Order: sequence, then C-alpha cells, then structure tokens
Amino acid sequence: MKFRIGVIYDKLQVQISDTEEEKCAYEQEIQTKEIISKILKDRYDVIEIEANRQIIQTLIKSKIDLAFPLCTGIRGESRQSQIPAILEMLQIPYIGSGILGHALALNKSAAKQIFDYNHILTPSFQIFYTSKERLNSDLRFPLIVKPSCEGSGFGIHKDNVVHNEDELILKIDNLLSEYRPPVLVEEFIEGRELTVGVIGNGNKKRILPIMEINFDNIPKEFGNFYTFEVKSKLSDKTKYICPAPISLKTRKIIEKNVNKAFDVLGCKDIARVDIRLKGDKPFVLEINSLPGLKPIYSDLPKMASKAGMSYEDLIFEIVETAIERITIGKIRKKIS
Ligand SMILES: Nc1ncnc2c1ncn2[C@@H]1O[C@H](COP(=O)(O)OP(=O)(O)O)[C@@H](O)[C@H]1O
Ligand SMILES: [Mg+2]
Repeated sequence: MKFRIGVIYDKLQVQISDTEEEKCAYEQEIQTKEIISKILKDRYDVIEIEANRQIIQTLIKSKIDLAFPLCTGIRGESRQSQIPAILEMLQIPYIGSGILGHALALNKSAAKQIFDYNHILTPSFQIFYTSKERLNSDLRFPLIVKPSCEGSGFGIHKDNVVHNEDELILKIDNLLSEYRPPVLVEEFIEGRELTVGVIGNGNKKRILPIMEINFDNIPKEFGNFYTFEVKSKLSDKTKYICPAPISLKTRKIIEKNVNKAFDVLGCKDIARVDIRLKGDKPFVLEINSLPGLKPIYSDLPKMASKAGMSYEDLIFEIVETAIERITIGKIRKKIS
C-alpha cells in the first residue's frame, strides 16, 4: 500500500472572526493546500482533510501515515496547536512543530522572554494587559504596538508605530478591543528588514538564502514596514532581495541566532524568522512556526527558489525532513 498523507486545512470560521485579515489568510491557505496536495500525489496517496468539528472521526477513518497540517486553528491564544494536539492524541505522526513549539512561536511575548533568556537579541519590550500600566522608563519612542498572539500582519497597520504616550494608550486600547490580551509594545527598529527560512532539525538544518524585504517603493501613507496592507495588497511594490546584501559576519550572526531561536522554542522541520537590522546588529522579531507556503507569493518559497529548489523540491524536502525526524525518534525509542 502506498504511504498516505493527509493535508489538513482550516474551515473558514466567519461566525467567529469576519475580518479582512482572516478571509485573506484563509484564501491563501486554500490555494496552498490545493497545490501541495497536487504535488504530493506524484509520490504518495493524498487526502485533504478539513479541520472541522468532525475531524477526530475523519482522521481515524482516514488511515493516514502522516499528516501535513496547514491550519492556524480556530481560536484562542494557542490556536496553531489545536490540530497537533488532536494528532498526538490519535498517535498520528505529523509534519512541523509540536503543541508547545507552535504555542510559543505564536505567542510573541512568551517567545521574546525565551529569546532574552537565551541571549538572542530581540527588541526591548513590555507586555500590556491594560493601557493603564506605566510605560517602562527605559523604552524609547518610536514604539510599535502589536497583538501578542497573531501572525500574518493581523492587527498591524501604519498607526501601530507610536511616537508619544497618548498615541500609545490609544493604540493599546484599540488592539485590546479587537484582539485577545496581552498587547506587546516594543522599540521600533528603524533599520532594514530580513527574513530567514529554515528547513530541518538539530544539526541538520538548511538555512535558506536570507531575504531582504525593502519598502522604498511603498507609498509613504502605508509606512515603511510590513503592515497587513503591505503584505496583502502591495507585494508588487515590495522589493524582495535575495540573497540579501549583508556582510559575511552579519550573515553568520544571523544564522547562529536563527538556529538557536528555532531550537529554544522547540520548532520542528520548518520555520521562518523575521529580523530587523539596527546598523549591522540583527534583532529577532519573531519566529513563524507555520510559515506561508503559497507558491511565488510567500517568502519561504521565494528563498527556496534562490537556493535552487523548485516549489516541488521544497514540498518534498519538508515531507522528507519530517519523515526522517519521526523515523529517528522511533529508532531511539526502540534502543532505549
Ligand atoms: N520592533 C520592531 N521594529 C521594527 N519593525 C517591526 C517591529 N516589530 C514588527 N515590525 C514590523 O511589523 C511587521 C510585522 O510584525 P511581526 O512581529 O513580524 O508580526 P506578524 O506575525 O504579523 O508578521 C514586521 O515584519 C516588521 O516590518
Ligand atoms: Mg512577521
């Protein structure tokens, strides 16, 4: 019998969240799962599984050998961990990070505390549960205000960069009314932006060519950073420079920090790390444990193509990376 892979994708939850951000992310995910399923059918038996309320029964019946979860989950601060948790309960091996890895990566405040502890440079920050808390006197404006547990530019617009306490309080209140607390406030690093793709595990990671995201051609009213508007509507005006023109020394520091960030959060198989440079000092903004994989459009496939990988190569490498990790894990268990 052929090896069977289940590609798991979200069900659109308009009754829970009807925002433009949610619809846009859902559209991209559906297009991604269609192309991934088509590619995998070349080598494997593939079924597509919607992550709805019947998913436990569907998974039991599906008899899959491996799951490829693309889902961001339904709701809650650890939503990306929901499907991995179900898969672990059913003892179905799956591609990508586990419950804790996804939960920590999605929670920027938790991730930054772990980065700090492990000496991975990240912008200075403060966590706000209400706008009444006092701003730490060592934080310097401009600051950026972000929802703590979101991704894909959700809740990130030009006016998230604030220049004084009045603007700060207004933006904290605004995010608290729309997103679950806490709100993360960090120093805005004015420098260049980079993103780094990783495939692999342990000492067998492949760090893809680093990509610079340049906002010079973005009209000023959208800001000079990766807002939701820039990500979703202005990709034709965004310059993607890969490999990024940086010194060998900076590249080595970035690769070391990316590698460490991946390991300390317990990520698996694939991730993408966002970075801002202050001079030549790299600050880690966040790690994406479920990076976008839409062909041509998403950052990771762009970087993979610069490493000489076709989109098909990328998808098969992700699957093979997971299979190798799972197989090694099983052998280790048997030996011990
Ligand atoms: N501290 C910061 N300094 C400078 N730019 C930032 C900072 N934090 C976020 N940004 C900008 O906002 C974008 C989105 O922030 P990020 O934390 O990566 O959230 P998301 O999960 O939505 O991608 C980044 O790609 C970057 O352009
Ligand atoms: Mg990001």
